[in-house]
Amino acid sequence: MKILAIHGSPRTVRSTTRILANFVLEGAAEAGAETEMIDLCDYRVTPCSACEGCSFNGICVFEDDVPAIIARMREADGIIFASPVYIDNISGQMKVFFDRLADAIHYQLLAGKFGCSVATTHTSGGDDVVTYLNHVQNYLGVISIGGLGVATGGNTETVDAAEASARELGKKLAGAIRNGFSDPNQEEEIAGNREFFRDIVIENRDFRTEDYDRWVQMGWIE
Ligand SMILES: Cc1cc2nc3c(=O)[nH]c(=O)nc-3n(C[C@H](O)[C@H](O)[C@H](O)COP(=O)(O)O)c2cc1C
Repeated sequence: MKILAIHGSPRTVRSTTRILANFVLEGAAEAGAETEMIDLCDYRVTPCSACEGCSFNGICVFEDDVPAIIARMREADGIIFASPVYIDNISGQMKVFFDRLADAIHYQLLAGKFGCSVATTHTSGGDDVVTYLNHVQNYLGVISIGGLGVATGGNTETVDAAEASARELGKKLAGAIRNGFSDPNQEEEIAGNREFFRDIVIENRDFRTEDYDRWVQMGWIE
């Protein structure tokens, strides 16, 4: 069982969010998962230019590190999103990466996986950012098992007080992967999104044959 954290603070190893995400990974590792962290700022992630090139063949016109990151997400059974709160939202690094997931969302490349999200903030926006990160997971077809937002009040040691809850979150994620986890609300939302994306998959079936066939095989197109 593989669990991958995608971490979007530019502060890399000094990042409070990274410490929190690492606690989640440690909890998952205790429950038997093989874990990995991607620090987005160590990778080349070019902003989407809305050229729509990826809609023809799933391949982005930019030759950067995003395809390799998506490949690692596809290999993982569980995905953790981790972002600091910047102006009551996710970090720019995280958003630029998310925009590059449009094709993965349309074709539901990560459907069936489980995930969770964490965020840290000085004061505001922690829970809202966790909700948004989990919302993006749902867009990808990933079911979130929960999340954790920590407001440090400027004292980064506050994040240590959240260690036990973060480890529990990691254990819960590993448990969901091993035993299954159901959330009718999220399942309904994901099914609704699929209704919408189905038109794209059908419209592009002549040049996205493999994706079309996968959708038929999954029973998402009759
Ligand atoms: C550009 C920027 C914007 C921020 N915006 C907010 C904010 O809107 N509300 C808040 O309470 N803290 C804000 N903060 C503080 C960070 O959310 C907080 O320090 C966070 O824990 C940093 O995480 P990191 O150590 O993982 O980078 C901001 C920090 C930066 C650098």
